Amino acid sequence: MKVEHAPVPELRPSEYTATLIQGLRARAAWVRGVAALEIGSGSGVVLATLGELGAASLCGVDIEQEAVTISKALLAKLGHGASSQVFCGDMWQPVAGRRFGLIAANLPHFPMKGAELSGRLPSWSDGGIDGRRLLDPFLDGLPHHLASGGRAVIAHNGFVDLERSREKAERAGLSLRIAHTTLVYLPDEKLEHMSESIVRREEGRSIHRYGPYAFAEMHIVEIGAAGSLS
Ligand SMILES: C[S@@+](CC[C@H](N)C(=O)[O-])C[C@H]1O[C@@H](n2cnc3c(N)ncnc32)[C@H](O)[C@@H]1O
Repeated sequence: MKVEHAPVPELRPSEYTATLIQGLRARAAWVRGVAALEIGSGSGVVLATLGELGAASLCGVDIEQEAVTISKALLAKLGHGASSQVFCGDMWQPVAGRRFGLIAANLPHFPMKGAELSGRLPSWSDGGIDGRRLLDPFLDGLPHHLASGGRAVIAHNGFVDLERSREKAERAGLSLRIAHTTLVYLPDEKLEHMSESIVRREEGRSIHRYGPYAFAEMHIVEIGAAGSLS
């Protein structure tokens, strides 16, 4: 059997990506035949999933040139080269004026201040002090980039105030629904870097400790017009 080389460690897909892929696979009907976008496309594996599920076209945006190069190579290798574009840029800026039927995102939204988690580029996880540095601009831009009847499927940490995300979506005339919740392991290194106010607020709510082991709730969230969600 030929051994395939995994992406460089900084771009190794996480359990968040795995759960997002699972969420998209469960919603294949939302993907088939539509123009699909991923913001923060990293390794390109979520775009590859969207291609496999039958998206008419694939578009990725990532702030890291290395991610763009790696994801383009993956998409070409899997036969999606001609139907895909991957831009190096900031959030919505490379897709200004464009709308998509399905928008996926697993944004950096870990609440921390200026620290680097080992093995990861800061741009992979750093969500600023409240975890919302990218989540808020994503939600603000979403209504301007969803096609009529389009939906977003995103990974959303339980400890970054889901109700604030819901309010933002509703203010734009969209609904937000938790599709699935899972627990992710929070290693000591991550907990040590997490904003203290969030740890204090969320222990016993979305963060669960059992002796030395801690887990956090992570949601797969759907956003779209009321009545269009599952
Ligand atoms: C948690 S990773 C998700 C990656 C991808 N889903 C995967 O599994 O390979 C977040 C990604 O967002 C990218 N990113 C960070 N800030 C960004 C921004 N302002 N605009 C676009 N992408 C950004 C990072 O470079 C990283 O690739």
